[in-house]
Parts: sequence; structure tokens; C-alpha cells
Amino acid sequence: MSYPHQISSRAQYDIAYKTSIEHPEAFWDTVAKNFTWRKKWDKVLDWNFTEPKVTWFGGAKLNITENCLDRHLIANANTPALIWESNDTEEHHRILTYKELHFKVCQFSNVLKNNGVKKGDRVCIYMGMVPELAIAVLACARIGAVHSVIFGGFSAQSIADRLQDAHAEFIITCDGAFRGAKAIALKEVIDDALIACPFVKRTIVLTRTRQPVSMIKGRDVWWEDEVKKVETQGNPDCKAEEMDAEDPLFILYTSGSTGKPKGVVHTCAGYMVWANYTFINTFNYRPGEVFFCTADIGWITGHSYIVYGPLSAGGTSLMFEGIPTFPNAGRFWDIIDKYQVNILYTAPTAIRSLMSFGLGPLQGKSLESLRVLGTVGEPINEEAWHWYNENIGKKKCPIVDTWWQTETGGVMISNMADITPGIPSVASLPMPGILPVIMDEKGEEITTPEASGNLCIKQPWPGIIRTTYGDHERCRTTYFTAYPNLYFTGDGATRDAIGNYRITGRVDDVLNVSGHRIGTAEVENAINMHAGVIESAVVGFPHDIKGQGIYAYVIYAEGAHDHNLVRQDILQTVSRLIGAIAKPDTIQFVSGLPKTRSGKIMRRILRKIAEGETQNLGDTTTLLDPGVVEEILQGKGK
Ligand code: PRX
Repeated sequence: MSYPHQISSRAQYDIAYKTSIEHPEAFWDTVAKNFTWRKKWDKVLDWNFTEPKVTWFGGAKLNITENCLDRHLIANANTPALIWESNDTEEHHRILTYKELHFKVCQFSNVLKNNGVKKGDRVCIYMGMVPELAIAVLACARIGAVHSVIFGGFSAQSIADRLQDAHAEFIITCDGAFRGAKAIALKEVIDDALIACPFVKRTIVLTRTRQPVSMIKGRDVWWEDEVKKVETQGNPDCKAEEMDAEDPLFILYTSGSTGKPKGVVHTCAGYMVWANYTFINTFNYRPGEVFFCTADIGWITGHSYIVYGPLSAGGTSLMFEGIPTFPNAGRFWDIIDKYQVNILYTAPTAIRSLMSFGLGPLQGKSLESLRVLGTVGEPINEEAWHWYNENIGKKKCPIVDTWWQTETGGVMISNMADITPGIPSVASLPMPGILPVIMDEKGEEITTPEASGNLCIKQPWPGIIRTTYGDHERCRTTYFTAYPNLYFTGDGATRDAIGNYRITGRVDDVLNVSGHRIGTAEVENAINMHAGVIESAVVGFPHDIKGQGIYAYVIYAEGAHDHNLVRQDILQTVSRLIGAIAKPDTIQFVSGLPKTRSGKIMRRILRKIAEGETQNLGDTTTLLDPGVVEEILQGKGK
């Protein structure tokens, strides 16, 4: 069994690709027929990249949850929609069939309505990886509220910034979240964030860890109590709100090269079609298979490939609360055997981390159910690719290396399982609908088959970012002005003679730490907030497990007696302002930074020093004070 819009051979891929580029409207018109619409579109596509303004399926009406839930109730009511594995191996797992998930989503939609949430309102979701997180996301979508999920590792200050930016008046959270041996106090973080956000009207708190929390009268309510109220009201259904194709579905904040994270906005119809199309085609998903994406729903990967992609396909999505190394480094492999997982989608950083434990944790694990493997988030190095292929896939499972971004909504460049070949560390071919181009340093497109430069995309695809919330100009200048009429990805890439793309990494000041995007400016802003710090510069350096580590050069005021203590204080400051994920791996105190005469920090030099280079630092003659470089080299490692 397969899907009508599923590609089943290389020849079909070639035809689909050609049609999608030459006749995008006809191509997506056919694909979109495989969804449930309240009203059909008037026009498939309208676009210009100058404003930018992109409209997919204009005039159509729909609700994404009718596509993710209701339409499966006829044939798949008892098919597992979500399988949930808890952090603790002793706790019983949960399985929610489509019927049960539909019921729970309707129920919670009514809770949201009872609490005053209306279509268009922004709802912030800050929860651990429990099924109620997926339920909350879908309930927002059902009533037309715009969800903005914030990853559980972000700090109170980060949450406050996002709440203010989105003017979100409603929050859904948990008392705490279990992650490995720890219980993280999520509600406490929300409480701290809310000191700066008096406009928040309601916080709905799910019980998970049952650690003590403060519940403020009139503002905070328990999830379970609110569900009981709905039960007594007696109407278990909640009719889905009719949405315009281009109504916002969600906001997801992501880092850029400037200070503040931006709210990437995705809309209902295009995102749905793209998440679904890329899910079934990249992984060659077959109905009935168990799909295990190890990402957190707080990131785009979780949005598209735990929630919307698999559910819109009537698939079975496995959601894991914990971490790969708890209670031991065999946890993923146990989960795969326990639920007979067919497709595993994880990140290179997780693979490298598990590799470091050797083959011991794989002893006694079958992994026979696996058919397809996937990676996402950063370039995968060849060593990790081969380890994954040999020890997890047993050389029988294709590995899809999926390149994409928060802004693209779904996979853009990847081989397709069993359809197009995988090459170690090469993302390979564009998905249908994607026309990549490589630009040289003069801003010209390189038209020769083999090319190396900055990666842009020429035509809109259904899942393209529509705006950055509250600041459309920022969307325009970030993505659409570097190269006129092109979407600029911020990544570098090479293309081989037969059209395979290899992603070489970010070309802007954005780091990729364990597959998470972190702007250097954001980390610098946080470090500079620490009393005593005069100036700082942050760069990335190659890190065995995380892919990239964070290296901070800091000019500190006179009188720092104990550098180690100051380092700890700075780390604490970064944790408070952004979250533990942004803590530098190395802090080097310096008395000056290499700057040009116009005052610009020469990051190129700092990057080389962080990478361990001592000789070939490039041209330093344009520096205001070349002596600074020597001093930094001397001070390294102290
Ligand atoms: O640099 C690319 C890298 O991750 C960036 C996007 O990060 P984010 O928006 O957080 O989304 C991550 C999950 C989709 C890209 O600009 N990246 C992502 N996947 C790959 C990758 N780099 C190389 N190969 C990949 N497969």
C-alpha cells in the first residue's frame, strides 16, 4: 500500500521533479487533491520574492487537524497515532489511537475555548515531551489559535522575550519535565518569565512530575481540573475552525545572525501539504510503519516529523520523553526493539554521542525492524555515517541525509529512501518543487554543473516561511535581499557534476551546536550583560560530539582575581539569559580583540585560533593592533 502522491521509482522522481519545476501549479494542484478541504483553492500559487509575498492554495478553506485526525477515523480509528515512551523505563508506555487522540484533542480544544482562547490568539507551549504536548499543539490548530512551542531548555528571559514578541496571552506548561535523571522545573521558569509579562491571562499547567509549584489565583489553572469541567459539560466533540489557506498555523522562534531570535511564521495549507509530501516521500513511509523521530517538538523537526507529517499521513509516530543515554546508552536501541520501529530519524550529534560508548550498548539488540534511517540538523561526518550504516542499519537500510531549516518547513534536499542513492555526508538531490542555485561571491549564479558557493532557492515551495512575526521587513532583509529574487538559506554548498548537493555549513554568524541554531550575537549579548564584561566575541570551533562548540573571547574589567570563578559566573549569566544550550565550551580572557581600523571584529582570525591554528591566520595587516593576535595566541588554554 502506498499514497497516491508517493514516488515509487527513480524514473518517477525524475518526472515529478521536472514537472514540479516546469509546471509548479499543475504539480501541486494534483498533490493537494489528496487532502481534506472545506473549500477548494481558487489559485494554486501567487508569489513575488521582492515583498516577499507567497500565497499557496489561495482561497482554500481547511483545518489541518481534520487532515491529521478526523479523516483517519473512518479507516484507521484504531491505528496507533502516537506511541509514547516515558523517560523512566519502569513507567508504562502510552498508545493513543487516532480515535483516542481525536477525542483528547477535541476535549482540550474545548478547554482552550473555556479559558478564553480564540482564533488568531497566540498560545505559548512550554512542556516536556509528553503526549499532552502534541495534544496541546493540535488543539490550538483545531480552534485556529497560533501555537508557539518553546523548547524546554530555554530560560525565563528567553521565554519572556518570545511572549512579548508574539504578545501571547496564554501559556500551556507542565509542573516539571523528566529528562534522564533530572526533573526540570518548567512552571518555575514560566513564573520567572511572567514577572516581565503581566499581559498573560492564563497558564494551564499539566501535572507530570508533581513537584511543588506556585499557582496564582485567577491566572494559573490545572490541566486536569479544566478537562474535568469540559467532561461535565458533556459535549466531547469540538468542531474544527475553518481556516484560510494562508492563516498562520504557528510561530517558531529561531536564531539568526543578529541579536534577537525571530518568529518564523508558517501557514495552514502550504505547510500541511509540504510536511506531508516530504514525510511520505523522503522516508518512503508505508502505512502501518512505526516512525521514530528523536527530536523535541520544541524544534521544527518535531513539528513536522513527530506531529504534522506522520499524523497527516495516518501514520504511527513514536514520541520519546527522555534522552538517548538514560538509563544507559542502549536506550534508543531498546525502544526500537520494543516497538518494532521501522524508521529512525535522528541527528548526527546523537549518533556521535552514542558512538562514543562503543558497541557494548548494542549487545543483544536486534534492530531487525529497521528499514530506513535518517539524519538532520547538521552535516553528518563520514565516520558517523558509516557507524550508523554498519551498526544500526546493518548495511541494509538506506540513510536519508535531510537538509532543511525552520524556515523551509520540511525537507528540501535529501536522497529518498529506496528511490535515490545515499552518499556519505552528501544531502544529494532536491525534493520535487525545490530549485537550488549556487551563487558566487560576486552575487552571480554559478551555472556550471560543478559549483561551490552560497545556497539559494529560486522558486517558492509550499512550506516556505511567510513572514517573521510582527516584522515583515526583517523577513525580507534576512532572506530575500542578499540575492534579488532568491531565498537565501545562509548555508554554503557544493554541487557535483550530476547535481548532488553537499551542505558545507552556515556562512553567516550562526552556530550549529548539537543541531541547534545559536546566533553568535545572541551569546555575545548575554555575555556582555555580565557585570565586569567589557566586550566579547563568540565563534564556533569543531567539536567531536556537538559538531560545533562555542568559543568566547572575553575582555573583562580589571580586578578579576579568580578567572575560574568569573568563568562560572559568565556561564550562569548565559544560562539565565538564553538557556544552558548556549553556554560557551571555552572562555578565554583577553585584553583586546582583533579589529579593523573601522572597528569591525575580525572573526575569521578568532575562528582560526579557536580551531587550533597558530600559523596561517591570514592577512593581519589591516588590523588596528596586530599585537593583539599574538597575545591571544599566547593566552590560549590558560
Ligand atoms: O546549516 C543547516 C543545518 O541546520 C540549519 C537549520 O537549522 P534549524 O532551522 O534549526 O533546523 C534544523 C532542522 C531542520 C541549516 O541552515 N542543517 C540542517 N540539516 C542539515 C544541515 N546541514 C547539513 N546537512 C543537513 N542534513
